[in-house]
Amino acid sequence: MEQLLQQIEAYRQEIGSLTPDNAESLEAYRIKFLGTKGIVKNLFNEMKNVPTDKKKEFGLILNEFKQFAESSYEDWKIRGSSLNGQSTASDLDLTLPGDPLRPGSRHPISLVRNEIVHIFGRLGFSVAEGPEIEDDWHNFTALNLPEDHPARDMQDTFYIHQHPDWLLRTHTSSVQARVMERQKPPIRIICPGRVYRNETISARAHCFFHQTEGLYVDENVSFADLKQTLYFFVQEMFGKDVRVRFRPSYFPFTEPSAEMDINCRICGGVGCPVCKHTGWVEILGSGMVHPKMLENFGIDSNKYTGFAFGMGIERICQLKYRINDLRLYSQNDTRFLKQFIPAL
Ligand code: DAH
Repeated sequence: MEQLLQQIEAYRQEIGSLTPDNAESLEAYRIKFLGTKGIVKNLFNEMKNVPTDKKKEFGLILNEFKQFAESSYEDWKIRGSSLNGQSTASDLDLTLPGDPLRPGSRHPISLVRNEIVHIFGRLGFSVAEGPEIEDDWHNFTALNLPEDHPARDMQDTFYIHQHPDWLLRTHTSSVQARVMERQKPPIRIICPGRVYRNETISARAHCFFHQTEGLYVDENVSFADLKQTLYFFVQEMFGKDVRVRFRPSYFPFTEPSAEMDINCRICGGVGCPVCKHTGWVEILGSGMVHPKMLENFGIDSNKYTGFAFGMGIERICQLKYRINDLRLYSQNDTRFLKQFIPAL
């Protein structure tokens, strides 16, 4: 045992004095010390000759030596490949060109959202945001949709188990409520964002999608302003030849209310599955802000009027880029996404 320990110490000093600086000497070291018939292996074979009561102590020293021999080898290998330009212990060729970094593209939803923000920005609308986890008041009640109101049926959503008053917002109209509660007229905002509904996922429905809300409250805001603003928007978005029509509708937070259609951008109005062969596609809901809404937020409805609208971003995308399946937006399929590189 004593003799073995002296031997190990001698090997340790030998390794300490070595500086293998090329692939051959490093390989020679590996074979001599770490190879299958090398010194470390042989020392382990000696274990059987060590008296039982000394085995533990010898084992510890031997293991430590093995680690020292191995880590010295690894150190030299790393140093060799980084110091010498040419390959030494390693086969790394640092002169090889790197893997190409392919440019990404913006998501079509982001492209369209940015364009909407830009168009309304030119009309003086600024962007407002609100939380995606909303409370009942901002998403429903403040918008004239009290509990048990039948219009809530169309907007079933996901509720937070531990906090039944909280839900995933069903529309961006909740941001109208948040803005009116902290800001007094004049208000001119658009609110892009993600919304949620409890819907079965299909080509035409999804449990989440995107909307942009718009709100303009000031003195003397009229329905004519609403029509002209939205007409300007679709002309900028789809081209000057776009045709629009307003249909009377109902929303609890606007009175009167209207839905706006544009002539189908897919078939040009002749009729196709997207426009359900009518030649027209609905793109948004709108109306004059209900006086009760204004009063809910302490805004004098005798002095101020306003208009509001809400549109689905996916629908605008569908008409602009001919995307016929809502699921494509969230599948992260690069064959779909890379088609938008030229749209940047
Ligand atoms: N929040 C409505 C929806 O999700 C859309 C909408 C309609 C928003 C009329 C409005 C509006 O601001 O005035 O179906």
